[in-house]
Amino acid sequence: MRKSILAIIAFTCVTATNAQLTKADEQKLNDLLKQMTIEEKVGQMTQVTIAVITKGGWADTEGDLDPAALKKAIIDYHVGSVLNVNAHAFTADKWNAIITQIQDETKNTKLKIPVIYGLDGMHGQTYTLSSTLFPQNLGMAATRNPSLVRAAAKVTANELRASGVRWNFAPVLDIGRQPLWSRFPETYGEDVYIAKTMGATAIKAYEEDGLKNITAVASCMKHYLGYSAPRNGKDRTPAYIPEIELREYYLPSFREAIKAGASTIMINSGEINGEPVHASKYLLTDVLRKELGFQGVIVTDWEDIKRLHDRHNVAATPREAVVMAINAGIDMSMVPSDFSFYDLLLEAVKLKEVPMSRIDDAVKRILTLKFKTGLFDNAYPEAAAKANFGKPEYQQLALDAAHEAMTLLKNKNNTLPLAKNTRLLVAGPSAQSITALNGCWSYTWQGNNEQWYPADSKTILQAIKDKGGDKNVFTTTVKGFNNVVNYDVTSLKRASANADVIILCIGEDAYAESPGNTRELALPDEQVELVKAAAMTGKPVILVLTEGRPRFITNIEPVASGILMAYWSGKKSAEAIADILFGDYNPDGRLPFSYPKSMGEFVMYDRKPTEEVREVFNDNAGGGYDPLFPFGFGLSYTTFEYSNLQLNSTNLKGDAKLTITVTVKNTGSRAGKHAVELYTHDLYASITPNMKRLRAFQKISLNAGESKQVTFTIDKNDLAFVNAQLKTITEAGDFEVMIGDKKAKFNYSY
Ligand code: BGC
Repeated sequence: MRKSILAIIAFTCVTATNAQLTKADEQKLNDLLKQMTIEEKVGQMTQVTIAVITKGGWADTEGDLDPAALKKAIIDYHVGSVLNVNAHAFTADKWNAIITQIQDETKNTKLKIPVIYGLDGMHGQTYTLSSTLFPQNLGMAATRNPSLVRAAAKVTANELRASGVRWNFAPVLDIGRQPLWSRFPETYGEDVYIAKTMGATAIKAYEEDGLKNITAVASCMKHYLGYSAPRNGKDRTPAYIPEIELREYYLPSFREAIKAGASTIMINSGEINGEPVHASKYLLTDVLRKELGFQGVIVTDWEDIKRLHDRHNVAATPREAVVMAINAGIDMSMVPSDFSFYDLLLEAVKLKEVPMSRIDDAVKRILTLKFKTGLFDNAYPEAAAKANFGKPEYQQLALDAAHEAMTLLKNKNNTLPLAKNTRLLVAGPSAQSITALNGCWSYTWQGNNEQWYPADSKTILQAIKDKGGDKNVFTTTVKGFNNVVNYDVTSLKRASANADVIILCIGEDAYAESPGNTRELALPDEQVELVKAAAMTGKPVILVLTEGRPRFITNIEPVASGILMAYWSGKKSAEAIADILFGDYNPDGRLPFSYPKSMGEFVMYDRKPTEEVREVFNDNAGGGYDPLFPFGFGLSYTTFEYSNLQLNSTNLKGDAKLTITVTVKNTGSRAGKHAVELYTHDLYASITPNMKRLRAFQKISLNAGESKQVTFTIDKNDLAFVNAQLKTITEAGDFEVMIGDKKAKFNYSY
């Protein structure tokens, strides 16, 4: 039964402690709160999109503010926050002008409370022209290299701050266990440990310098909770997740992020088990505030309070939606296209449907964020920050990250690396595309408009030509992922006569959010036909996959001599691809997800025993975990051997630590990096144990012939799971530890 707004249970107020503020700031904050009217408080909780203050609203593409609209937002509605762009990225100077104009207007208010501007810097600063774009999170996960995540987040923070912006709506901490989902590329893949490690690393990098510093921004972990697992794979459609699963797989990355110091959190626009998360007092207040101890700002996602009424239909009126969300624990509403939230919340407060204590709590958290980010000291873009935009070394970092993301999935007969004088036909829809190398959140929301990319962005064709030369490298393709010319099999066959090898660049063009919804993971027929036609020529075919999620390639994999998973790896994708194809970089990426073999079966690597060995009679559907390429897979041009796996004890007791060492040797003839992964397996447990769980990884570099001993330390927390009472516990019993092809057993006792 729909809850009546009259039946609001008394709200238990959790007051932000402000341990993060200096005494002086805390004093100022409390003084300010005392002077604020209800209207000013509700205004602080209101976040609008830039269209609300631009000339002509959404029609504006250049970020030109309308003074009257700005006045209305700041003076009449006391708006606390602004976000977004209408159409595309601006120069850093333009951003500086926009932010300056907004803060100038706040000076005309009674209390002069600055506005906090927020943007989505998801793989680099999306909305500033010429910013440095890195691999999407999925590619960053493939690097298994937190130091790259850290360095990339620092650059993002610098480039945001240089743009005058102090709040980044990143990182995405959703777990990618539903490959159909259009935001899969924004996740760190299917594994909980990778997501919590990389997520916490990014958050620390954004915030650790102190948010008053010009090298830091407030982070926003998102989208709490369970956003990534819609049952049918479409964005913002129902998820059904039992709480035991929510806690085992989806909650840990947020718990870790809170420990890492995340200042803000954004909520999942979807519903779990029939309850929209924006209306869930249990998830927002009981779990997030009380259990996880999160003190920062809880912001909605786009229009999500309105949607409680008009899409989810759990609130009979728009005001009831506001009441539900604020009483559930929301602090700030990304309204964002009008002032309806402000009017409705004011009404609700006056009718006592929302207690004043809840409003004060939310406003205190918002003001804390503004004090923390130094906006009360100086709300204007900081001149010194501008020098940190677009430093030459950022390009090298983007290349390093793209190199380490690239994941070599197949290399039959060592077709790769190619000799520099190989005659190459480079074709396929991504061969001359920049957008298909970068994906979502790249200078525009969808990332699919090349007009806004830096002029020195390279296509795969250009990067290969730079190495192989114009004489040896040719194409049948043109610009435009969907241009029919790119799928012309006749010209492809004809051109292949002069080639030794065919490089086919296929996959997906950029998309973000619901425009990326798809009914299936099959590659479009014309791409499959292209691959088949290339194979018919008898020349070796190398597939380069530029894609945000695993598209189905089981039907074409057998005809390919080589397959390189390139993800959407940002500014230097093409250069990194060319380096790997020619052996100028030895690939070391490892898949952060299980590449499905069949479109009807998605089994994750951390499968349960009954998924491993299925009870089947006359089964012709294969058995157990059987992806096309398993989680963690990735080839190198050299080989690594593991030996001498040793535990400091086979009996781990209580809170003691277990030290595990293994020797890794580069047995090939090239230097290479290698991510050493440690998995554990709980043999018997009260909840069916996973067959394996990743517990640690370390990336090492080894010269040809070199050996290194790698040491890991784990404790009982690394062996824990969520039990039937929803408690995270470690049970006594036997465990296996697995590194590479080596295994050892140990016992845990209390
Ligand atoms: C997305 C968020 C994003 C917000 C603001 C929403 O549609 O789901 O991830 O932060 O827009 O751009």
